[in-house]
Amino acid sequence: MALDIIPDIATLRARLKTAPSIAFVPTMGNLHAGHIHLVKLAKQHAQCVVVSIFVNPLQFGANEDLASYPRTLAEDCEKLQAAGADIVFTPSVTEMYPTVQTMRVTPPPIANELCGAARPGHFDGVATVVLKLFNIVQPQVALFGKKDYQQLFIIRELVHQFNLPIDIIAGDTQREDSGLALSSRNGYLSSAQKLEAQRLYRTLNMIVDNVQKGHHDYVAIEAQSSQYLTQLGWIVDYISIRSAATLLPASATDTELVVLAAARQGNTRLIDNIEFTRS
Ligand code: PAJ
Repeated sequence: MALDIIPDIATLRARLKTAPSIAFVPTMGNLHAGHIHLVKLAKQHAQCVVVSIFVNPLQFGANEDLASYPRTLAEDCEKLQAAGADIVFTPSVTEMYPTVQTMRVTPPPIANELCGAARPGHFDGVATVVLKLFNIVQPQVALFGKKDYQQLFIIRELVHQFNLPIDIIAGDTQREDSGLALSSRNGYLSSAQKLEAQRLYRTLNMIVDNVQKGHHDYVAIEAQSSQYLTQLGWIVDYISIRSAATLLPASATDTELVVLAAARQGNTRLIDNIEFTRS
């Protein structure tokens, strides 16, 4: 089946009216194997797989990369066709925001921590566009990557707190052989920065090892790791060991944990995380 490329809401709604079941993968395009992994997972959950490609201005800060964010629609469509997606929804900014979006989703307080601390308003923009996309596509299932762990957490809260009849399915983080998590922003890295970027995942693995070996002074571990990366030229936004269930700082009794980090190589901000269990 050929991929349908649909830029407007009315045509999409008409086309989806007869779809027996819909799985939805929202993206900002410049698709890589992380996105395609979600598309393939989606195919296991519904007869019709819809992918959206929309670089959402609402979730970018004033000094962020909205203008330079890579837009590669032709290549993206080839990848989606090969992966077996049925429909790609490619709205313009005016299609999504015909009037100023004065009504917004206010995410829970956790949205002001971790990535939200360095990117004020980011998750309010993410939650708002995802709610709009959910209302447009009306899927039974939607898929998100664990790579953006805090985003996944907030989307789960959105669905729960607004009683949306949508199952959220998480896809594992897809990585290069070096361990570097795939990201559209990796394309901004020079070859030297890309080599150094591998260290982020290695550092997270070292933290997991340390905790599992019985080192439980999380604040000290976070500070040491942050200092280590800073000495190597990184600008560290945060390294944080959290409860996987609440995303709050891990307490001594939490055993299901996640270590999350955001750090910059030059102007490129990279994020990664690892879920793990401690005894
Ligand atoms: P984008 O960064 O394009 O990511 C789209 C989806 O792909 C997200 O669910 C993200 O977690 C997932 N993803 C990205 N890299 C991945 C990797 N290496 N492995 C597995 N999954 C990966 O996230 C967004 O777009 C936007 O915020 C969006 C949700 C579309 C709202 O605008």
